[in-house]
Amino acid sequence: MPKTSDMGHSEQTETKHSHYRYLIATHTQIVKQIFDKNSRYKETNIYLHFDITPGDGGEYGQSPVIFVRRAQELGLPYRAIFIEQNAQNARRLKQRLMSCFHTNGNTTVDNADHIERLPYYFDNPPVVDSRGNTRYVYGSLYVDPNGEPPWKLLSDFSEHYPMVDVIIHLSGTTTKRRRGVHGGPDLIDCISGIQKRHWIVRYPNTCQQWTFVVGTNWDGFPELKQAGMVSIYGKTGREYLSILSYSKKELSRHIEATQNTSLTQSTGRYENKPLPGLAAYVNDVESDK
Ligand SMILES: C[S@@+](CC[C@H](N)C(=O)[O-])C[C@H]1O[C@@H](n2cnc3c(N)ncnc32)[C@H](O)[C@@H]1O
Repeated sequence: MPKTSDMGHSEQTETKHSHYRYLIATHTQIVKQIFDKNSRYKETNIYLHFDITPGDGGEYGQSPVIFVRRAQELGLPYRAIFIEQNAQNARRLKQRLMSCFHTNGNTTVDNADHIERLPYYFDNPPVVDSRGNTRYVYGSLYVDPNGEPPWKLLSDFSEHYPMVDVIIHLSGTTTKRRRGVHGGPDLIDCISGIQKRHWIVRYPNTCQQWTFVVGTNWDGFPELKQAGMVSIYGKTGREYLSILSYSKKELSRHIEATQNTSLTQSTGRYENKPLPGLAAYVNDVESDK
C-alpha cells in the first residue's frame, strides 16, 4: 500500500471513508435531535468532536473534512479538536480547514502526540454542560491509527466524557499479531476496558480485518446496518468480534473442543451459544490453506 506522510491509501481507505461518512451523518443527526428537544440549554448544546489521528484532511476528504462538512451542512453547533503528531499533516490540515470551511474559533489543530495532548482536555474541557461539567457533553471521539489504538487513553477518556461516543477504526490482525509476539490482552478485553455499555461492530474487511467499533452509553443507540454494523450482543456481532479477537488456530481449537460453549467464555461476557457462522468461517479459512 503506498504511504505518504504516515497515511496509507487503498480501496479499503475508500470503504473506510464511506462508512465513516455514514456513521458521522447518523451520529450528528441523533445528537441534533437531542439538542432540539432540549433547546433551553442552547448555550451548552455544542457537539464536541475529537479526532486524535486526523491526517492532513486529504485531497478527497478524510475524517476531519467529513466531520466539518457534515456539521456545517446540518447547522450543528460544534467544537472540534484535531490532534495530529506529524507536523506537515497538522499544517496542511489547518490550512485546508481554514480555506475550505472558514473554520475559526470552533476548530483547533494541535500538532502533538495524542497520548500527551488528549489528557490536557480532561482538565480543560472545550465544552461543558449546563451544570458546568462534562457529564452531559455530547459528541464523538474518532481514532484511526496506523497500529493499535491507544487503549489506556481511550479508557481514561471514557471516564471523563461519558456521553461522548468512541469510534475506533482498527485492524483485528494487528492486535492478534501483537498478541502473538508480545502477548497481552485480546481485542475483547481491550474494548472492555473502555467505559461504554453498548458496542456495535462492523464486519471485518480484507486480510487485515479492518473494522469499525463504536462504544456508547446511550441505550437507544441504533445498529447501523447500512454500514454493516451490528450490536456485539447479537449472534452476528459476536461472530465478528470473535473473528477479530482470535487467531484461526484458537477459533478451530474452541470449535473442536465444544459445539455448545461460547468462544468468548474466558471473558465471561457472552452466553454459551454455538456460533455456526463462525464454524463456516474457520472451515473456509482452512480450505484456503
Ligand atoms: C491512518 S492515518 C489517519 C487517516 C484519516 N483519519 C482518514 O480519514 O483517512 C493516521 C494519522 O494519525 C497520525 N498519528 C499516528 N499516531 C499518532 C499519535 N500518537 N498522535 C497523534 N497523531 C498520530 C499519523 O501521523 C497519521 O496522520
